[in-house]
Amino acid sequence: MSTDAIVILKDDHKKIKKLFREFQSAGENAQAAKGRVVKEIIEELTVHTYLENEVMYPEVRRLLPDLEDDVLESYEEHHVADVLCAELAAMDAGDERFDAKTTVLIENVSHHIEEEEQDWFPRVRDGLGRKQLQELGGRMQQMREKAPRSPSQPSALKKAVDAVIA
Ligand SMILES: [Fe+2]
Ligand SMILES: [Fe+2]
Repeated sequence: MSTDAIVILKDDHKKIKKLFREFQSAGENAQAAKGRVVKEIIEELTVHTYLENEVMYPEVRRLLPDLEDDVLESYEEHHVADVLCAELAAMDAGDERFDAKTTVLIENVSHHIEEEEQDWFPRVRDGLGRKQLQELGGRMQQMREKAPRSPSQPSALKKAVDAVIA
């Protein structure tokens, strides 16, 4: 299996987008099914965000200073998604705001994924090259095992705090 960082992150995106489509195609009344899908979405996003925040973003910022503004924008976009995930994790699928909040999460994350894949990843690939991307990918795969899977875990909360006071 490839450990190229961008390939790994794109695989995650694919999984996340598939879950988004599952939510969108669930019927109006499929409350239990939607609750389950949203739980999976939160898990996948929590892990993915952790890997990007702990490895990809800080390393790109350090190695490619020209991309710093994009990294800072990414932190903010992830922060918005984190807030929505934390609220959804504490919310019952029957709540009248559950579907609406999930829809806003999907819109925001889809936009962010699009920007990463269309604009950001190609520039990172140009700037870093194969060897460095494989090294970063290897580190992310190692971290995946101990990555938080729920927004209330301390390692996930840390980045929510960083977003405000770091
Ligand atoms: Fe991201
Ligand atoms: Fe991403």
